[in-house]
Amino acid sequence: MAKVTVVGSLSIDLVVRAAKRPVAGETIIGEDLSLFPGGKGANQAVAAARLGATVTMVGCVGDDSYGEMIIKNLEKENVNTSLVKRFTKKTSGTAHITVAEGDNSIIVVKGTNDLVDESLIEEARAEIASSDIVMAQYEIPLPIIDYLAKVCEEEGTSFLLNPAPAADIQTETLKRITYLTPNENENKLIFPNKTSDEAIADFPGNLLVTLGGKGVRFQTDTIQTVPAFKVAVTDTTGAGDTFNGAFAVAIAEGKDIETAVLFGNAAAALSVQKLGAQSGMPDREAVKEMLTQ
Ligand code: RIB
Ligand code: NA
Repeated sequence: MAKVTVVGSLSIDLVVRAAKRPVAGETIIGEDLSLFPGGKGANQAVAAARLGATVTMVGCVGDDSYGEMIIKNLEKENVNTSLVKRFTKKTSGTAHITVAEGDNSIIVVKGTNDLVDESLIEEARAEIASSDIVMAQYEIPLPIIDYLAKVCEEEGTSFLLNPAPAADIQTETLKRITYLTPNENENKLIFPNKTSDEAIADFPGNLLVTLGGKGVRFQTDTIQTVPAFKVAVTDTTGAGDTFNGAFAVAIAEGKDIETAVLFGNAAAALSVQKLGAQSGMPDREAVKEMLTQ
């Protein structure tokens, strides 16, 4: 079985649906409010676990009711939470999401996700060493990503970085990344002086640019786009996380990049059909079915 360790954020998503989003100074009436487990780290962990990987989550929550909900949810999803640290008198991370006009806008309040530090990475070192792949995102302090990349290199474990939300990467860290999965905007921020294809050609098989509804672009022999599956979209929140989690599982199982991307695309297409980041994340059977359609 593939073994995946995720170092990242755990949050509660507060999702409001509305006909439109308010402009500055405007108040509008929304349709409803839903609370969902979220955070890019936890989402990627759940995506991988549902697809059958053995998953360990490394991160921080508060001792508030949200922290409790976050841990319970991961346990229900068979994600190992022994390296999720609980802080007293601190607030868990939250994401404040508006779903309107077919798209989402998100404000993230990092809360305890900002407390992930080097000592927690050291506590996770043995877990990192025994994993097929380690995944991280940018909702924890950026210097910790640099530290984690170094630890993955020292332990000889593949490292996937999903650089979201957008921020730059240190050159030293970039060299240590096995798979980098930005969207177009994040890619532009990391490689401001290159076209997307120039950047992809510079990191063949390592840089995969996600193009939302258009698919994923990367280089094997030549640069190619594996197109996204066409589905009716309810909520794209967490689609990128589902892609990353599924892609990592397939890679950890020894699949080639193209097969892993296709697997990730199928999982992501299934995930956007329900409201909430984790709600639509598929199990293995559902992905298989999608791939044989
Ligand atoms: O990628 C989606 C996630 O980003 C949401 O679950 C929310 O927590 C935000 O941080
Ligand atoms: Na969803």
